[in-house]
Amino acid sequence: EWLEFRTSVEFQNKSLGFVPTMGALHEGHLSLMRRSINENDRTLVSIFVNPTQFNDLEDLEKYPRTYKADMEKLESIGVDYLLFPDYNELYNDNYNYVVHEKELSAKLCGAHRPGHFDGVLSVVMKLLNIADANKAYFGEKDYQQYLLIKGMVEAFFMHTEIIPCALIREDDGLAMSSRNALLTKEERKLAPNFFEHLSSSRSIDETSSRLIGQGFQIDYIEEIGSRRFGAVYLGKVRLIDNVKI
Ligand code: PAJ
Repeated sequence: EWLEFRTSVEFQNKSLGFVPTMGALHEGHLSLMRRSINENDRTLVSIFVNPTQFNDLEDLEKYPRTYKADMEKLESIGVDYLLFPDYNELYNDNYNYVVHEKELSAKLCGAHRPGHFDGVLSVVMKLLNIADANKAYFGEKDYQQYLLIKGMVEAFFMHTEIIPCALIREDDGLAMSSRNALLTKEERKLAPNFFEHLSSSRSIDETSSRLIGQGFQIDYIEEIGSRRFGAVYLGKVRLIDNVKI
């Protein structure tokens, strides 16, 4: 239906911006959408909790789903169209075809979440092809994801321009994330220390041991290029963040 609509007169001489998401929308997501609305005649959003990028079944099952509240947010900021596909519609190949990157996707989150970026790249290629947008917006919250998607679009000569957008934080510094809703009250209080320590000028070892001392479990803290990347657990909730060095 969308593909037919996309080639209709509705879109003649109109630019389209696209923001793919997994829902449970927060201000981080909305900032991407506002930017798209500013820069394009029409804005399309997708909400799809993509099972192929979850390496942990419990994480997939617990992922927050807030469809009604999401719809209200999309309407209130003036998003034009929403794609809300189900698994069979998107995975007509039953995930027999996989987009795999061989270098960067083995590092950082890729080293700790086997298959994660295969799932991300495969679904994003599907979504970008379906949307057929002029520009697509991705947050620097998931900086490694942004780099991999940008690389994929270049590698496969895809037509959509990939636009990086600033990471949006809560007032206390915690990077906004759909998973923050899963933190207990005590964990939520502790969570901003992650950003505070990550952005300090202390060494990686010193930063890690301070975080461990406060009750965080470290997945990784690593520097690549001019950026320091981190992933930690607070209880069962995994948080990621990154800062420019
Ligand atoms: P999701 O986590 O819902 O994020 C959707 C988009 O919002 C991503 O580009 C992400 O980087 C951006 N985003 C999330 N939190 C942000 C924040 N605090 N500041 C700025 N941008 C933020 O990322 C995904 O979904 C999925 O992997 C997806 C690309 C949709 C593929 O399934």
